[in-house]
Amino acid sequence: MRKAVFPAAGLGTRFLPATKAQPKEMLPLVDKPIIQYGVEEATASGVPNIILVTGRGKNAIEDHFDVAVELETFLEARGKLDQLAEIRKISDMVNFAYVRQGEPLGLGHAVLVTRDLVGDEPFAVILADDVIDANPPATRQLIDVFDRLNGPVLAVERVPRETISSYGVIAPDLAAEPLGDGVYRVRDLVEKPPVEEAPSDLAIIGRYVLTPDIFPALAATKRDRTGEIQLTNGLRELLKTRPIYACEVKGVRHDTGNKLGFLKAVVYFALKRPDLAGPFTDYLTALGLPAPIAR
Ligand code: UTP
Repeated sequence: MRKAVFPAAGLGTRFLPATKAQPKEMLPLVDKPIIQYGVEEATASGVPNIILVTGRGKNAIEDHFDVAVELETFLEARGKLDQLAEIRKISDMVNFAYVRQGEPLGLGHAVLVTRDLVGDEPFAVILADDVIDANPPATRQLIDVFDRLNGPVLAVERVPRETISSYGVIAPDLAAEPLGDGVYRVRDLVEKPPVEEAPSDLAIIGRYVLTPDIFPALAATKRDRTGEIQLTNGLRELLKTRPIYACEVKGVRHDTGNKLGFLKAVVYFALKRPDLAGPFTDYLTALGLPAPIAR
């Protein structure tokens, strides 16, 4: 797989005022912006080209992955070679292409505007706000299923019933032949159903491997009540013409697009850092938490 699409044109209203002049994808988890976790996942999954869908006020993302000549010269002159290597690693990471969404008309629309850049080949979609710590990386897990079944694959996760209405939800085809551990054929899918109408507890999370026939399907998808084109509805359209699969991703996911999820992710990644784990655990323990947090 050669290309990964990163939709990053949403307004991030749940993080205002932090996201007024800066995209939520640039908020750091410890010292790395959220989007860099996703880009590193794409690289580690063997995907070398990133297509970023950006909107107003997203220049910081482009600058982050660009060469920073002044900064590099400064670090070199001061002999700060570790930091220099770290900064160079970012701009060397992958090839970037950018496309503007213009108006934030929904995730389906964000994918649709990449049509010309993606061309006629399968591609991954990575929603950077879902940060997934996994080995093999989440996108790699989906690509492996795609290579085996040769059809679109959606990442899913079992979530508590009371949270299901925040997600797209699949109905697995339980009559279909077994496809392996945690892999399903999709019978139907629905965007943000009320709890009592949810067809399962398998929620679609922010990773997809799609085929180029998603583009005409999205173009044929009607806007929803809020005026947005939903990717889930485009997939529902596509399901009329070909099988679609879902894969339960093995790993730890944090939804950093909401405040509690973001805070959990900061703590999680801080505790994984050898330089911070000890003193940070001491700090958390001193706050009077009931038990020390496991490292
Ligand atoms: P969200 O549902 O998290 O929306 O989008 P949002 O606008 O980013 O944030 P809130 O809800 O206002 O706080 C899921 C993903 O789809 C992208 C977002 O950037 C995010 O990665 N997206 C969403 C677009 O690229 N364009 C859109 O029109 C909508």
